[in-house]
Amino acid sequence: MAILPILEVPDPRLRRISTPVEAVTDEIRTLIADMFETMYAAPGIGLAAAQVDVPIRLLVMDLGDGPEDAEGNPTKNPRVFINPEILDPSEDRSVYNEGCLSVPDQYADVERPATVRVRWLDETGAERDERLDGLTATCLQHEMDHLNGVLFIDHLSRLKRSMVLKKLEKERREKTAA
Ligand code: NI
Repeated sequence: MAILPILEVPDPRLRRISTPVEAVTDEIRTLIADMFETMYAAPGIGLAAAQVDVPIRLLVMDLGDGPEDAEGNPTKNPRVFINPEILDPSEDRSVYNEGCLSVPDQYADVERPATVRVRWLDETGAERDERLDGLTATCLQHEMDHLNGVLFIDHLSRLKRSMVLKKLEKERREKTAA
């Protein structure tokens, strides 16, 4: 396994449209393992292949909402979505304070459909179809945006977006100076 470099704004590679995965091969499964390692190390709760410079329609997430262990602690719940498709987003919307490993340390409220029905292939190549809600639905939609070259800051007003990007630039300068 390997920790992969994560692309950050304003890298134009984040704006590419990812292509469908043709077959779930061992090569894809190796990439999935590397993506989980990269995401856990960051740390983050979701990662699209596009963010590690592999523009294919693949994303991973782990909200840490697996079954509780013997001590009552939350456990990992790694999920893989290959060629995901949203079938019917709800009219109900929810707001979540989103962040993104490609826009480091910046957060902003984004409104999205509260629930979505999603069809995808899992890591074994099996077809799955489920209605997702809560943070799972939000995270899935955020990661799916990456497959279409869209970032969460694109959902903000122009003013708010430029504020976020300016703050990121300032923090980067301070980090370099430190
Ligand atoms: Ni993101």
